[in-house]
Amino acid sequence: MAKLVIKDLNKIYENKVEVLKNVNIEAGHGEFLVLVGPSGCGKSTLLRMIAGLEDITSGSIEIGERVVNELPPAERDIAMVFQDYALYPHMTVRENLSFGLRIKKRPQDEINERIQTASKMLDIDHLLDRKPSQLSGGQRQRVAIGRAIVRKPALFLFDEPLSNLDAQLRSQTRIELAALHQKVGATVVYVTHDQVEAMTLADRIAVLNKGRVQQLGSPLELYNNPVNTFVASFIGNPSMNFFKGNLEISGSRKVFSFNGLSFDFSDAPTPTKPGSYVLGLRPEALKVLAKEGRESQGAVDCKPKVVLIEPHGHETHLVASIGGQQVIIRSANPKRLQVMEEATRGSELATTIDRKAMHWFDSTEEGGRVNEIS
Ligand SMILES: Nc1ncnc2c1ncn2[C@@H]1O[C@H](COP(=O)(O)OP(=O)(O)OP(=O)(O)O)[C@@H](O)[C@H]1O
Ligand SMILES: [Mg+2]
Repeated sequence: MAKLVIKDLNKIYENKVEVLKNVNIEAGHGEFLVLVGPSGCGKSTLLRMIAGLEDITSGSIEIGERVVNELPPAERDIAMVFQDYALYPHMTVRENLSFGLRIKKRPQDEINERIQTASKMLDIDHLLDRKPSQLSGGQRQRVAIGRAIVRKPALFLFDEPLSNLDAQLRSQTRIELAALHQKVGATVVYVTHDQVEAMTLADRIAVLNKGRVQQLGSPLELYNNPVNTFVASFIGNPSMNFFKGNLEISGSRKVFSFNGLSFDFSDAPTPTKPGSYVLGLRPEALKVLAKEGRESQGAVDCKPKVVLIEPHGHETHLVASIGGQQVIIRSANPKRLQVMEEATRGSELATTIDRKAMHWFDSTEEGGRVNEIS
């Protein structure tokens, strides 16, 4: 277990492609840090630099209070699990697990004990004498994780380790990984594309875009307080809906106009200065009004036109258009659902905007969060 500190890290490949820009990240002892971001944003490059498989252009990486910039991978006390688990095909599971320890010339008793503990933990102890070709995808995955665990590294690096598994096995293995992390208490840096994996496994998430860290925080911090429109749209599924419009303020009256529609936000938290803004609303912040007791449900702010209804079982998504822009509305409330599910294509549903769930961003390309709200 060790702390990881990345300071002002930059990476420029020989072809002058700037892949990482001023990356600053810390993962504390035993922390589960998840890196997310779109394809090509530099996640694997960053992991490979931590592992020592890729040169550092500038900046520093410390593992357990030791700068490792110049250390070869074998001396960094890390274990890495890749997407394509790369087990040795000619070796049994037991030999795969023990390989790293045998290289390090650990005593046989210790090797046996570590294999027994890890294979029990991962429920592969009955598979020790099989070859990888005689295992299922999920079992192979667990062997790859086991191979990392037996080494008791200071730091675990995972690069999309579950992406080859089917949906069910994936969520099963995700739960096992979380349990495993609680048991072993190791420091982990984990790369994934998967929203659910990021939100459920992480102590903290770093969102990367184009080689820069956009935000580093707990899953709920990122969900509730995204620093810009990129993080807001990346975290949460379905994505946040955005409305670019103009806010007018005269006395206590505040009106937001968007694509020819006007919203009376006099009673809502808005930026304190008038101007051009982007309003962000998560799919659950748009609330279709139920038939009964409308007065108590809030003002009718808009009437989205129904495009498509998607039942998911535990909740329903409504694809609709507001002012010609497509939005997604989500609900699990039976009374709202009734209205949504009975709606026909093209009909308009009276909808209110949850005043407590409004996000305001400036209208620059960066789309930074507006913090002066009242
Ligand atoms: N050896 C290399 N030489 C030049 N450019 C590279 C090299 N390796 C990667 N890149 C570029 O660096 C960028 C980041 O790549 P990286 O593999 O880190 O992305 P990633 O975030 O892991 O993406 P994915 O989610 O698709 O795995 C990409 O634009 C890629 O084309
Ligand atoms: Mg990658």
